[in-house]
Amino acid sequence: MNVQLTNSPLTENKPLLKWVDKMSALCEPDAIHWCDGSQDEYDSLCESMVLSGTFVKLNEEKRPNSYYCRSDPSDVARVEDRTFICSNSPDAAGPTNNWHDPIEMKKKLKKLFKGCMHGRTMYIIPFSMGPIGSPISHIGIQITDSPYVVVNMRIMTRMGKEVLDNMDGKRVVPCMHSVGAPLELGDVDVPWPCEPDPANKYIVHFPEERAIWSYGSGYGGNALLGKKCFALRIASCMARDQGWLAEHMLILGVENPEGEKTYVAAAFPSACGKTNFAMIIPPKSFEGWKIWTVGDDIAWLKPDENGRLRAINPEAGFFGVAPGTSYKTNPNAMESIKENTIFTNVALTDDGDVWWEGMDGPVPESCTDWRGNPWTPNSETPAAHPNSRFTAPASQCPTIDPAWEDPAGVEISAIIFGGRRMTTMPLVYEAFNWLDGVYMGATMGSEMTAAAFGAIGKVRRDPMAMLPFAGYHMGDYFRHWIKMQRRISDTPNIFHVNWFRKDEEGRFIWPGFSENMRVLRWIVERARGKANAMETPIGYVPHFADVDWRGLDFPRSDWERIMEVDREAWMRELAMHEELFLKVHDHLPKELIFERELLACRLF
Ligand code: OXD
Ligand code: MN
Repeated sequence: MNVQLTNSPLTENKPLLKWVDKMSALCEPDAIHWCDGSQDEYDSLCESMVLSGTFVKLNEEKRPNSYYCRSDPSDVARVEDRTFICSNSPDAAGPTNNWHDPIEMKKKLKKLFKGCMHGRTMYIIPFSMGPIGSPISHIGIQITDSPYVVVNMRIMTRMGKEVLDNMDGKRVVPCMHSVGAPLELGDVDVPWPCEPDPANKYIVHFPEERAIWSYGSGYGGNALLGKKCFALRIASCMARDQGWLAEHMLILGVENPEGEKTYVAAAFPSACGKTNFAMIIPPKSFEGWKIWTVGDDIAWLKPDENGRLRAINPEAGFFGVAPGTSYKTNPNAMESIKENTIFTNVALTDDGDVWWEGMDGPVPESCTDWRGNPWTPNSETPAAHPNSRFTAPASQCPTIDPAWEDPAGVEISAIIFGGRRMTTMPLVYEAFNWLDGVYMGATMGSEMTAAAFGAIGKVRRDPMAMLPFAGYHMGDYFRHWIKMQRRISDTPNIFHVNWFRKDEEGRFIWPGFSENMRVLRWIVERARGKANAMETPIGYVPHFADVDWRGLDFPRSDWERIMEVDREAWMRELAMHEELFLKVHDHLPKELIFERELLACRLF
């Protein structure tokens, strides 16, 4: 095979060079390019995608240095049913993951990858999850045949030569990716990032080998392998073995008027406003208070040598859902995507900018929708796909924390779990202790939204918001959480919040958004031992007078409704906890069974 080298290898690391040779012999690309991570490289890849029709350059005046991309209509989301955890035994993956025999799966993948890069360039992407050199960070090398993946990875991770220069002595996670559909002589590539074959999509994790193989999808969560595949599924296994936590959590810092900062990590399932909460702006009446953003999706938490739980955001960018994002819901996100941003599957306006449902200002009279069809407000389908995304550098967020790249991470004082619940769950309550907090996270649930018919209001259990992302048995994952307490000298207080409780008429009782700051203030003051609380059967809650109400006229009667612990509803809730526990019963730590018993004793 005659493979053209577009540049020389950026490393002399023998095992890496050998692996690249092996993968090149398997995939048979036309050319190999070692990504240096430079701006020139990014610009020239974007330009070449404009020429091939994959990218549209947006209006330079309205959206400087930004690009628009449409994917194939069947390649717009994570594919949980095509995501596999190929541990040596099915028992290690557990009942909430798709397991497949690793040897058989490797055979299948090798067949698919054989010659899969014909007609394309193979890119070698060295990347660091977390600041380069941080004791909490880890390194991966992704091989891909998609320039769309390369430019997105440059925003989402620290990528390029500097990573290779800091690789010595470190274990590296190999990440293989191909969009599939090799090009034979005379074929012209499709304009979108990937031509998927739904039956041949594979997002595969080998936890013991710490390797990832992804085939047949160009969508972020399936193809930017640093994100969900590495930073959550593989990292959760590494964290279990090494005594830390890889979590689906945002990280934010709360600064009070005295200039003291308290950092909080929070886990919410998808579509519960994690990015909005990470960038919350306090109400006007909260003069002197400021929120700092460290991350909006993933947190790696590790005890330092003094047992303090410190966290980094392993990512370097935001891969956020566009629809619903506006200056009203999240001004900081809107500021973050003003330039240097890639938009995927939103609508393209006639003046070369982007639009989506829920954006500020008038609805455009005409535009091109995410499928490339003409769209008007009378069209029956949305202009932007509901899961359309922006990819933007985190450094562009006006509230990005000055310590967001501190290799030591930030010290976490509170952990918040939350879901979308129209009944049962109060606005906020605090666990009695770490173990009770682990129970709280393990039994977390969230209502499915209108999409699935007949299922509206049905609560899906999503432990720690990790159901699709834990790379091993959920029962063992709970045990690991419990055991972490021994490694932490000053355990963070653990809370549960619910912004979504509704009244009898189906209206949200709590105004949400900026007003969530009132709850957050109580949380950080509890964590600092400065706020009052009252004991209830489920945990500690604030009295009405413990919340800062300046600037909001929130009726006490509404407070009572939103904080109510309805014993009938909790009886049903406990039955649902039991359902989850039965599913993972053979690995369920007995501590959680005792916690459930204690909760029942306090309630009934
Ligand atoms: C998700 C995401 O699916 O962050 O959770 O993209
Ligand atoms: Mn997420």
